[in-house]
Amino acid sequence: MKYQGIIFDLDGVICSTDRYHYLAWKALADRLGVYFDEQINNRLRGISRMASLDIVLERYDGTLSAAEKEAAATEKNELYRELLRQMSPADLAPEVRQTLDALRARGLLLAIGSSSKNAKFILQQIGLGDYFDKISDGTNTTRSKPDPEVFQKAAQFLGLAPEVCLVVEDAAAGIEAARAAGMDSAAIGDAVNCGLATYTLTRFSDLLGCVG
Ligand code: BG6
Ligand code: MG
Repeated sequence: MKYQGIIFDLDGVICSTDRYHYLAWKALADRLGVYFDEQINNRLRGISRMASLDIVLERYDGTLSAAEKEAAATEKNELYRELLRQMSPADLAPEVRQTLDALRARGLLLAIGSSSKNAKFILQQIGLGDYFDKISDGTNTTRSKPDPEVFQKAAQFLGLAPEVCLVVEDAAAGIEAARAAGMDSAAIGDAVNCGLATYTLTRFSDLLGCVG
């Protein structure tokens, strides 16, 4: 087999949290009097919370101190986590669960490589709290995708070389991060448009055809 491990982005790959991110950023932007819409929200895909805040604040008239930025990010995150409480195992598509099980049955190691500091909470909400072999996320990284750090750490946690890892991503920044890590990538959703991935997936189960 070409790969020994698969590293999955979480938001937009394993489950969909876009709407909750949008609603929480929108509430913060409204309070600050900053224009924010779905298109701006799309630019936040895959990147860290603080890097996202910088994009949200591009249209802000004043300036925020470092402490005020921290407070704004915390405010957004509290709203976001409140929304995440609605998530349940019903938010895990049967196709995703079946594909993960089939990959595991082929002997592949499965990891998460997510920018989110809420990754473990989300995984618990959707019933995958103990599922993945390793989790690399926003709590063990300091540099946001497209930096390769989150995927390099995931591979280290799995004990695998980059060449035998395949990254699955819905964000262009994530595909760039995989390339920078020396890993093949499979793009799904928005990431398909960047044209840089090794494979493009029309649906999640297409992954079974990429791993040989
Ligand atoms: C990524 C999302 O998975 O996580 C981004 O695609 C988000 O939109 C990032 O900004 C950080 O998430 P969190 O949960 O740590 O605020
Ligand atoms: Mg994503």
